[in-house]
Amino acid sequence: MKLIEVKNYEHMCELAASYISDKVRANPNITLGLATGGTPLGTYKKLIEDYKHGKTSYKQVVSFNLDEYIGLTGQSPNSYRYYMNDNFFDHIDIDQDNTFVPNGIATDLDQECKNYEEQIRAKGEIDLQLLGIGSNGHIGFNEPGASFESYTHVVELTESTREANSIYFERMEDVPKKAITMGIASIMKSKEILLLVSGEHKHDSLAKLLTGDLTEQFPASILKQHPSVTIIADAAAIGNLNIKEVMYD
Ligand code: F6R
Repeated sequence: MKLIEVKNYEHMCELAASYISDKVRANPNITLGLATGGTPLGTYKKLIEDYKHGKTSYKQVVSFNLDEYIGLTGQSPNSYRYYMNDNFFDHIDIDQDNTFVPNGIATDLDQECKNYEEQIRAKGEIDLQLLGIGSNGHIGFNEPGASFESYTHVVELTESTREANSIYFERMEDVPKKAITMGIASIMKSKEILLLVSGEHKHDSLAKLLTGDLTEQFPASILKQHPSVTIIADAAAIGNLNIKEVMYD
């Protein structure tokens, strides 16, 4: 794992956006794995600015999102499909047919999971996967205890994740209890991973990722075994971690 320390959220977003847009320009047919949540919002904003300056085209780019709530349609402002359209896809020249988000209202959810995984294979795997991390170490919606062998599947969300995400909903009862997520094995198949970590509230999860054991109880710990992970973390997330001591390559 490679760790890049930046001053603050703004700098993290700038660096992440130039990292991603460089890759898109170098490989216009790239398959991106994308995340939602608060962390990547600024990165998407910077990517849109870069696009508007005519620097990068997404015409041939394919994208797969990590996850989607079960029970929400793409028109629901809380769905991840809506988030992606609103915060990124509607502002760039990507072909919407090449943007994949699991269908949270599929009648056969298990079949939807299988299809999603097959679609990723059919597009030749994810070249660059963007990730955020939950305070409990979740990646995608792979909560503590999720199998490292898992592919796209249906999950029950933990109360801590529902609570963290409730800020986007009017009432706690509105936060879905289930989601479809790419599994840990799906994420690990991507050729490269870019993990963004910002804010003091993510310090503990970053510290655990860098210094803790490899365990399914802390899903992100699997990233230590991936051959190409870059973490961009801001000073607030790094806090008092002695980077030189904790990084081993
Ligand atoms: C989002 C996702 C989640 C988030 C994580 C961090 O698609 O899969 O794993 O990356 O919950 O969320 P934020 O960025 O809101 O702190």
